[in-house]
Amino acid sequence: MRTFRAPGRVNLIGEHTDYNEGFVMPAALDFSTWVKVSPLEERKLQIFSENFDEEIEVDLDDQNLAARGHWSDYPVGVAVVVERAGYRLRGARLQIRGEVPIGSGLSSSAAIEVATACALVANSELKIDPRELALLCQRAENEFVGARVGIMDQFVSLFGQAQKALLLDCRSLEFRLLPLPDNVRLIICNTMVKHALASSAYNERRAQCEAGVKHLAQYYANVTALRDVTIEQLEDHRAELPDVVYRRCRHVITENERVLKAGDALEKGDLERFGELMGESHRSLRDDYEVSCRELDLMVGLAQKVEGVYGARMTGGGFGGCTVNLVADGHVEEFKERVSDEYQRITNLKPEIYICTAANGAEEVF
Ligand code: GLA
Repeated sequence: MRTFRAPGRVNLIGEHTDYNEGFVMPAALDFSTWVKVSPLEERKLQIFSENFDEEIEVDLDDQNLAARGHWSDYPVGVAVVVERAGYRLRGARLQIRGEVPIGSGLSSSAAIEVATACALVANSELKIDPRELALLCQRAENEFVGARVGIMDQFVSLFGQAQKALLLDCRSLEFRLLPLPDNVRLIICNTMVKHALASSAYNERRAQCEAGVKHLAQYYANVTALRDVTIEQLEDHRAELPDVVYRRCRHVITENERVLKAGDALEKGDLERFGELMGESHRSLRDDYEVSCRELDLMVGLAQKVEGVYGARMTGGGFGGCTVNLVADGHVEEFKERVSDEYQRITNLKPEIYICTAANGAEEVF
């Protein structure tokens, strides 16, 4: 039996830019999903989830496998797309245990996809380049599960490194690892709310970005994604665009600029500047992209009042889930107490607060 681990992620800055072929800056978290794998004679998968205490079985030669709104869609989807890409899998028994909070925007889905992919590849004695593996996991989610997510989560789950943020160019898939100073902590605050319609609103945002690209491409031959559009070009055509499309585009274009600036700030160790950019990112997500919610705004507002906080913003797709906060060592306890108490007093919800470190990406565990 072999065991593979893949982490969830937190995104420091660069939200809703990945599917616009832009820039993101996530870090892999010290929350993981583990998959134990052993070979089976027959071409079938037996998958047991410790979290759901449930086992399912599928035949790898079944051509009609389809998502059914079940936890097993993720591992089965990975197997299906890996086979569709022309690789032949051996039968396997998989035992899955996840500790990434589910449905809170920390990418428990990428963690299960990547850990399963690593386990299936090893069990079948295949060699797949990790960039291709990240793309296959994304495809499992796009084509099998049915969520049109970008590449960020799967990529950082494979390529993340301890104490580093990963600045990824989602078009070329080139990346830089940037050191996170050891005198700050990444604190994640879970609002404990998950609004319905998050996935339809996500797909709607994508469609609005595509509408912007379609319009602007008529004027600029090089434009194939919002990544290619400058803010001046957008402003020149503002009057021709529906206001909502204009604002979605403005978020993406300015967010890409912020990620690059944040990368420079981190390289210089300028945490004040990094924190300011996080604040701007949050406001842009709230006002232009409209993917925040009352609880996220409150959590960010409370954090910004605490001493030692460089920056705070919502993280992930939005409509609930978590905020990410960059907090100076020495202020962590005060942060935890004040934010938690105030949030609970106002909302009647008890938030979960995780003090995190950036961890390594997927690996075999011995
Ligand atoms: C979700 C998706 C990512 C990304 C973020 C928003 O987490 O899985 O691909 O689009 O939303 O930045």
